[in-house]
Amino acid sequence: MKFSELGLTKALLEAVERNGYEEATPIQAETIPMVLEGKDVIGQAQTGTGKTAAFALPILQNIDRDDPHIQALVISPTRELAIQTQEQIFQLGKEEHAKVQVVYGGADIRRQINSLKNHPQVLVGTPGRLLDHMNRRTVKLDHVKMLVLDEADEMLNMGFLDDIESIIKETPDERQTMLFSATMPAEIKRVGVQFMHEPHHVKIKAKELTTDLIDQYYVRAKDYEKFDVMTRIFDVQAPDLSIVFTRTKRRVDEISRGLEARGYNAAGIHGDLTQKSRSQILNRFKHGKLDILVATDVAARGIDVEDVTHVFNYDIPQDPDSYVHRVGRTGRAGHHGVSLTFVTPNEMDYLREIEKLTKVRMLPLKPPSEEDAFTGQLSNAEETVKDLVEKTDTDKYADMASKLLDQYEAVDLVAALLNDLTKDNSNQVPVKITPERPLPRHKGSGGSRNYRGGRGGHGGGHGRGGNGRHYGGRNNDSHHRYGSSKDRHDRGGNRDHGGNRDHRDHRDHKNSGGNKHGFTIRKKD
Ligand SMILES: Nc1ncnc2c1ncn2[C@@H]1O[C@H](COP(=O)(O)OP(=O)(O)OP(=O)(O)O)[C@@H](O)[C@H]1O
Ligand SMILES: [Mg+2]
Repeated sequence: MKFSELGLTKALLEAVERNGYEEATPIQAETIPMVLEGKDVIGQAQTGTGKTAAFALPILQNIDRDDPHIQALVISPTRELAIQTQEQIFQLGKEEHAKVQVVYGGADIRRQINSLKNHPQVLVGTPGRLLDHMNRRTVKLDHVKMLVLDEADEMLNMGFLDDIESIIKETPDERQTMLFSATMPAEIKRVGVQFMHEPHHVKIKAKELTTDLIDQYYVRAKDYEKFDVMTRIFDVQAPDLSIVFTRTKRRVDEISRGLEARGYNAAGIHGDLTQKSRSQILNRFKHGKLDILVATDVAARGIDVEDVTHVFNYDIPQDPDSYVHRVGRTGRAGHHGVSLTFVTPNEMDYLREIEKLTKVRMLPLKPPSEEDAFTGQLSNAEETVKDLVEKTDTDKYADMASKLLDQYEAVDLVAALLNDLTKDNSNQVPVKITPERPLPRHKGSGGSRNYRGGRGGHGGGHGRGGNGRHYGGRNNDSHHRYGSSKDRHDRGGNRDHGGNRDHRDHRDHKNSGGNKHGFTIRKKD
């Protein structure tokens, strides 16, 4: 559907055009008119389908430019996502001169307090830092007309619910409330609707919970085999940009160091790093200066990096919803992607549970052999040689080249070049990843998804059970389940726009025409 049919102002239509969006995605087409009318909405649509603009555009339209109070509040589960969302709303609201600000943990609070003096009309934040500002009375929410919980099922999960309730309590009862996520388990939705007035649940009909733009594979391997198998897959498939998700922070460190030791351009982020490092690493990744980002679930939700071609689940996620969000870092905005999930022999039940939720059967991928990896490397080297030849100023090197050709056979010279361009897997750096405690034996034969247990605490109201086990995705980033709220809340990062896209510049958008996923993408100006 055309954006112009949705009731948006001229300025916002210009912003949409400037962003290169031609047609509204289904979630945008359905929710934008509803939000403009002031209705409460639960918006559920697959990852990468433009939910951010679905709430950002109508919010920007309904802001009263002459009112200096915070009129819209967007709450995000991680710092990285909060920053990204603020930037997207700011971009879309430029023509409208909307004041949009972000507050998140791990960053200088005094600086944030100073910026807040500019009277933002839209505020994006992570719960912990928002509460901090509220306690200091540097953020007041008594004029909030619109409230968004992005990644709502995560925000209403036990780890965050207390904080979310405390924040919502400070907003006016007559506010408009919106929940957005790709996943919305029924029990969490029940919690959410208690904060809403006659909500409309817009669920974009899709056969599967994950987008069919992602080819989903699984690879059976023992835990100690995974690292070597993964690097062979890198060699065979030559991904442009990959994200590797692991279960623990230690694994993030070990795997990113191991990849670097083997000559891959990789770095890791998790909740124990300083915000500064997290931001730097994510920015390098976003600007194409890093090929592989290794991460805990801190990067699983909402993060939008153009051209991520591969998502690896080095460790299978314990929670099926987490799988949906992790693999959803690829296959975004109409682009294709590949996901590969490692499964150890005793984790097959977890795989089946994920498939039950997504309604997609993952295809088995045979782990490549050392020879396969070498063949893959050679064919990548062939591409590199082609590029090198094209960009080399032959005249500059001609004399030395002739001299070398007199001294050596041409085949020997080219073989030496290929040797330099490929890694010699037969004497590669050994990398040992410390074994982690295996996932508990899966109990989920009866009923679906019941092994998450802990969610039961939400059952009949705002009660937060607390007796159950915690919803898996949450504790992935911190070993302790109810650990320090700082760690849980403020898993952040940074994003900056522009900058060069390096080697990614040449790639054209594969789906430049409209397609069934509702994306029509033009190259940005
Ligand atoms: N109508 C559109 N046409 C083309 N691209 C769009 C459109 N709307 C949004 N996009 C782009 O699609 C990408 C994904 O959007 P967004 O991050 O909002 O997805 P999402 O649905 O929130 O995904 P997730 O569930 O992972 O948070 C972004 O880069 C965004 O700029
Ligand atoms: Mg999103």
